[in-house]
This record gives sequence, C-alpha cells and structure tokens, in this order.
Amino acid sequence: MSPRKIIIDTDPGQDDAVAILLALGSPEDVDVLGITAVAGNVPLDLTQKNARIVCELAGRPDIRVFAGCDHPLGRPLVTAEHVHGKSGLDGPDLPDPVMPLQDMHGVDFIIETLRTHEAGTVTLCALGPLTNLATALQRAPDIAQRVQQIILMGGAYFEVGNITPAAEFNIYVDPEAADVVFKSGIDIVVLPLDVTHKALVTAPRNDAFRDLGNPVGAAVADMTDFFERFDKEKYGATAAPLHDPCVLAYLISPYIFTGRFINVEIETGSELTMGMTVADWWRVTDRAPNATFIGDLDAEAFFDLLTERLARL
Ligand code: BDR
Ligand code: CA
Repeated sequence: MSPRKIIIDTDPGQDDAVAILLALGSPEDVDVLGITAVAGNVPLDLTQKNARIVCELAGRPDIRVFAGCDHPLGRPLVTAEHVHGKSGLDGPDLPDPVMPLQDMHGVDFIIETLRTHEAGTVTLCALGPLTNLATALQRAPDIAQRVQQIILMGGAYFEVGNITPAAEFNIYVDPEAADVVFKSGIDIVVLPLDVTHKALVTAPRNDAFRDLGNPVGAAVADMTDFFERFDKEKYGATAAPLHDPCVLAYLISPYIFTGRFINVEIETGSELTMGMTVADWWRVTDRAPNATFIGDLDAEAFFDLLTERLARL
C-alpha cells in the first residue's frame, strides 16, 4: 500500500514534536505533504518556529512549514506555557531553524492541497486547536468532501478536562472551530484524553528513547523529562502522557487502538462547560454518530512502534 498523504496541523509543543518525528520516521506509511502551524500551546510565532526546529532535528529541512491562524475564531488565545515552557519546546537544547517558513498562509495551503489532489486521498492530522481546519472549511466548503479523514487529538469523556474541569485544551482553546469540524460530515477519528492518558512515558520507556544513541532519541528524552514534571505535580502521575503521537500511531497502526463510532457534540454555549466534548459513549441518544471516539490502546505496542520509528531518524 502506498503511504497515506497527510497534512500535520500542529502547535508544537513537545508531544506535537514527537508526533512529527513519528511521521517523519515512517515514510513507508506516511507522506507528509506539509505542516501547518496554529496558535495553541504557545503563540503562532513560536509554534511555526518549533515545527521547523523539529523538521531540522529529523534531518528533513525539505518539509514545507506554513503559518496558519494566530488566534481562535471568536475569542482570545489561551496558551499552555505552564505545561510546555516559555518556548513551547522547553527541555532539549535545539538550534534555531535555518529552513525557511513558507510564504503561503497555512489555511490556503490546506485548501489548495485538497483541491489539487484526487478527492479522498489527503488526511488531516490535527494536533492542536482546530482553528486552521475550521477556517479552511468555512472559506472553502467544497473541500469537506475531498478530505479522506481527519484524525485529531482532542476532547475527553471519562477523563473530562485538563484545562477546565470539563474541557480538554485543544477543544477549549477554540470550541467554535471544533464545532465546525465535528459538524462537517467528514470521517473523523478522535484521540481523547481517555486514551492518551494511557500512553505514559514511564522511566524505562524514556530510557529506551535516550538509549537510541541518536540526537532525536536524546531530544525526545529531554522533552519528556521537562513536561512530565507538570503531570507529576498536578495529577500525582508516575509518568507523562504522550498525547499527540497517538494520532500518528493510529494512522500507522490502527489495530493498536479500540473505540466506538458515536455522536460527539461540542459545548459552545455554557461558560461552565465551554469546550466540553459531549460524547454519547453509551449511545443514550438518537443523535447520529459522527466520529470514531477512541477509548483504549495497547501501550506496549504503541511505544514499540514509536521507539522503532525514532531509531531511524
Ligand atoms: C493537548 O494539548 C496540548 O497541550 C498538547 O500538545 C496536546 O495536543 C492535550 O490536551
Ligand atoms: Ca498539541
């Protein structure tokens, strides 16, 4: 089977960085057409820069990186330096990128790519707030039927919230954008906190990254060392979750994951529960299913895959 053509929409972020590295270490499975940065974990000027830092770390300065939207559709940007550090990529000591940022706006790149490729052959992997995707869908509604699939990290049902008691960060930052995406009719796969909180980088797993002996392994281990302090302090967790790489792992090895095809709606009206993913996991309504909502993964298989692919870079 030929590799899946993808656009990675992202707000790096250490876990976004690992997701990008997983993609770039998997050329037989994934053809990265471009990376579009969005404001999220840190402002856009940092997320687009971090995306380029990661491409250079992977030895892939040829990957095209585009800057997309610098703020959510209808509200001020909320960021997460408390998790990811001031740069968004705190931990490893990585050089500033030399590769250029593309001139085209990220949203224009998404629209143009979907219009110029055969319909049903381009998948969107979303690792941050959904502002770029929603803007593209609003500006060019014709692209909805051209998208093969959207695979996104966001939301939660059993784990509920990590930025408010009710909401996960990516959805909370731009709930109106998430609402547009979930109502688009596109085939959507959701990797919520319910599953990403089971992808824990334990000490032996982080040692395995460091023991790879390449710059990528050392950088990933340093990133984990940095952001795990947050989960340890906040949740008393023994290890940090690797959220965004679950999106790429699902694309490469979907059999590692299990979930349900259910109805998922986004709360956009209540301040108390703003950005909540109201997931009908128990199918207690007759609302039409619109997303495959993942609930579990084989964590050993996930880390085996990730470690093997990072070893190649
Ligand atoms: C999500 O929020 C960000 O902090 C991470 O990069 C991930 O995409 C987890 O809630
Ligand atoms: Ca992210």
